Amino acid sequence: MQIHIVKSPELAAEAAATLIAAAILENPDLVLGLPTGSSPLGAYRALIRMHREGLLDFSKVATYNLDEYVGLDGTHEQSYRRFMDENLFDHVNIPRENTHVPSGVGPDPERNARDYEAAILSAGGIDLQFMGIGRNGHIGFNEPSDSFADKTAVIALSPSTVEANKRFFASADDVPKTAVSMGVGTILRARRALLLATGRDKAEAIRGMVNGPVTPMLPASALRFHPNCVAILDEAAASLL
Ligand code: GLP
Repeated sequence: MQIHIVKSPELAAEAAATLIAAAILENPDLVLGLPTGSSPLGAYRALIRMHREGLLDFSKVATYNLDEYVGLDGTHEQSYRRFMDENLFDHVNIPRENTHVPSGVGPDPERNARDYEAAILSAGGIDLQFMGIGRNGHIGFNEPSDSFADKTAVIALSPSTVEANKRFFASADDVPKTAVSMGVGTILRARRALLLATGRDKAEAIRGMVNGPVTPMLPASALRFHPNCVAILDEAAASLL
């Protein structure tokens, strides 16, 4: 794992956006894995700026998001589809049909998960997977558990994630308790991985990811087995290294 530590969250966002922009310039047909959460927002703003400046063309890029809450359709204001539309897709020239977010609705979420994994495979796999990290070390919605999920699956959110994400909902009771998420295996099969973490509340998870054992109790630690993974951290997130 290649670790870059920069002074501020703003610089971390610029660094992540620069890496993604370079990947698109190198390969206009890039298959790009994307996260939600607050971590990627600065990078998304930078990518939008680069697009507006005429530097970046998204017309052939395909995107696959890491996860979606079960039970929220794409119009729900806390759905990850809506988040992606509002924070990136609506502001760049990516064709809507090139953007993929797992479906959290319908009678059979397990089937949605299987279909999503198959769609990634048929797109030729992910070239670059961008992601954040949860305070408990989760990636996508792969929560601490006693085994790594290999493929996209329906995953139960841990109480600490429900607690962390309740700020976006009226109450903890309104936070969906399950999600469709790429598995750790799906993420490890991406040809390149890019993790962005900022802020003191990620420092414990980052210490575990970098210096602790590789364990499904801290899912991001699996990235240490990725042959081409870059972690961009601000000084606060790196403060316990
Ligand atoms: C969510 C998402 C993750 C994200 C994490 C951290 O639960 N499923 O993909 O990395 O939270 O979010 P934030 O960036 O807001 O700290």
